[in-house]
Amino acid sequence: MSDIKIDITNIFDFVPESKIISMQEQISKCHKTIINKTGKGNNFLGWVDLPEKLDIDLLKDIETEAKRIQNIAEVFVVIGIGGSYLGARAVIEALSHNFANILDDKKKPKILYAGNNISEDYLSDLLDVLDKKDYALTVISKSGTTTEPAITFRILKKHLEKKYGKDNAKKRIIAITDKEKGALKKLSLKENYKTYIIPDDIGGRYSVLTPVGLLPIAVAGFDIHKLFEGAKTMRNISLSSSDLNLNPAAMYAAARNALYINGKSIEITVNFQPNMVFFTEWWKQLFGESEGKENKGIFPAGVSFTTDLHSMGQYIQQGVRNIFETVISIEKSQKNLKIPYDNDNLDGLNYIADKNIDYVNKMAELGTRLAHVKGGVPNISISIPEINEFYLGQLIYFYEFACAISGYFLGVNPFDQPGVEAYKKNMFALLGKPGFEKETEALKKI
Ligand code: PA5
Repeated sequence: MSDIKIDITNIFDFVPESKIISMQEQISKCHKTIINKTGKGNNFLGWVDLPEKLDIDLLKDIETEAKRIQNIAEVFVVIGIGGSYLGARAVIEALSHNFANILDDKKKPKILYAGNNISEDYLSDLLDVLDKKDYALTVISKSGTTTEPAITFRILKKHLEKKYGKDNAKKRIIAITDKEKGALKKLSLKENYKTYIIPDDIGGRYSVLTPVGLLPIAVAGFDIHKLFEGAKTMRNISLSSSDLNLNPAAMYAAARNALYINGKSIEITVNFQPNMVFFTEWWKQLFGESEGKENKGIFPAGVSFTTDLHSMGQYIQQGVRNIFETVISIEKSQKNLKIPYDNDNLDGLNYIADKNIDYVNKMAELGTRLAHVKGGVPNISISIPEINEFYLGQLIYFYEFACAISGYFLGVNPFDQPGVEAYKKNMFALLGKPGFEKETEALKKI
């Protein structure tokens, strides 16, 4: 049975239950399309069987490498953008102490992220930190040619070589890239870096269970076997039936598409735990890049409650009624902290004295749901028992599978991202990259 529970009863005021039930046949077709690999982009379905085809030697190798890094580095820099970093960051931040980077845990390197922007200030500040720390890095790029990580790697490679000498620097660099294509592959071969391969049939945003996510997660000190176990559990559930009542991913895909058809074109994923913020970021990329094409697709947004109830909460309660919410609900918190009794009670909080903070958070969650549904915002709830590797593995696979079904339901290829090239073409033309002369000329005429 699935540990992930989906509750769609709070959308029935907007989309009748009968509508959802009537979608079963179409959802089953999409399910079959994935299983039989007959849909658009079917050469990018490697993630479907990944948890089943677990390569135990690869996992062990990653763990050995992670231990080696833990012994030589206080800081581990993950260089990558989009699917080449968001999955790792989502899992690491969800599992980490909220203040991990200022805690003094000598066994675990602090994980920093770079190559996901082109900010001179960000990179310069990073160098300030790295001047003073022992560090190692991984550079992750499937294409091996993405500008943001390439610029960052060029700078950090030189920094590492200056700091440790050319030969020692090599031991602090791990490349994760295509098995044969791209500049990063060439460079890794030339420099003899430790290298992991991103399988051909897995795109960036579906790659968290490949070395792309696994190496950083293992270096951060988390159990990649359990993550896989969770994914495997959800794979079995997702593949064995397309029945909306048995397959939570199918139900989620049906519910969000029913809402979309009824004019709810923005989905806001909500968390009530700050360490889930990057999980939402990963989800945003997964769904945004998979579905937003051909002038179609739900716009994926994210908020953190109760924080954003004091900012975006106003809009969600009373703004344009084209939104729905999906709350990722965590049933049990990891820690135990109660509100103390106070004799003076000047803040008036004695009515919740002795209650756990998480109880108050849960009441905020319930109260918010009631208010938002009443205000015209349908609500889907997706809950996991607690945050750990096993349940996160389930949640990752759940979302990946749901995204594939949902994309096929929408009629798009959920595995390509042609629109991402447009900004690159203009940027290269503006920068005068060889091969873009025609584009440069065209831009000059604007
Ligand atoms: O999901 C995707 O395919 C993208 O987000 C890519 O992961 C991102 O653009 C980075 O590409 P690459 O790994 O080739 O550097």
